[in-house]
Amino acid sequence: MKQDWKPGTLIYPLPAAMISCGSSPEEYNIITLSWLGTICTNPPMCYISVRPERHSYEIIKKNMEFVINITTQELAYATDWCGVRSGRDFNKFEEMGLTAGRASIVQAPIIEESPLNIECRVKEILSLGSHDMFIADVVNVKADEKHIDEETGKFSLEDAHPIAYSHGQYYDLGNRIGGFGWSVKKKDKD
Ligand SMILES: Cc1cc2nc3c(=O)[nH]c(=O)nc-3n(C[C@H](O)[C@H](O)[C@H](O)COP(=O)(O)O)c2cc1C
Repeated sequence: MKQDWKPGTLIYPLPAAMISCGSSPEEYNIITLSWLGTICTNPPMCYISVRPERHSYEIIKKNMEFVINITTQELAYATDWCGVRSGRDFNKFEEMGLTAGRASIVQAPIIEESPLNIECRVKEILSLGSHDMFIADVVNVKADEKHIDEETGKFSLEDAHPIAYSHGQYYDLGNRIGGFGWSVKKKDKD
């Protein structure tokens, strides 16, 4: 038997990413978001959805830029903390001992400790209700060489132990099940 529930946002698991924003060190801030994702491959585009009452909202709206920093087990504490404290009251970089580094294209800082920093420039803002959706072009990606295999050049995020967010809980990723297309490959191996 299935129960009918009232409409709700139950698409999980999701990322819990740290979004860095601001165009000067005094303005730099970090907000944790789960309402974010990829919306186009070519051109590479993504979205974040932010409540207008967030401190970060005005910063992102003013600068029209932000960086999505992928989070890891090591960054899990800071990820949660930056999602329950406001930049109105704290300097989150300082409080969490995180390093604001230079992005290549946008003014917003990257979080150096994150293995992957996705630089974004806002194209359009959609007011949807509780949240505004920032639709953005990905203008650059910075990948930590620590996770790039010298021989193959392959970036392996698994080594960094990325985390996911599901129904109010954070998780590290479990066992690998198979690679893209494994279901239709002839051999049993993926
Ligand atoms: C796991 C997690 C996911 C979150 N996702 C969102 C989100 O998608 N949109 C949003 O507006 N707030 C989200 N929040 C809440 C903000 O991160 C939180 O209100 C934060 O304190 C705002 O910081 P700021 O005032 O410095 O901008 C999330 C919080 C957590 C812990």
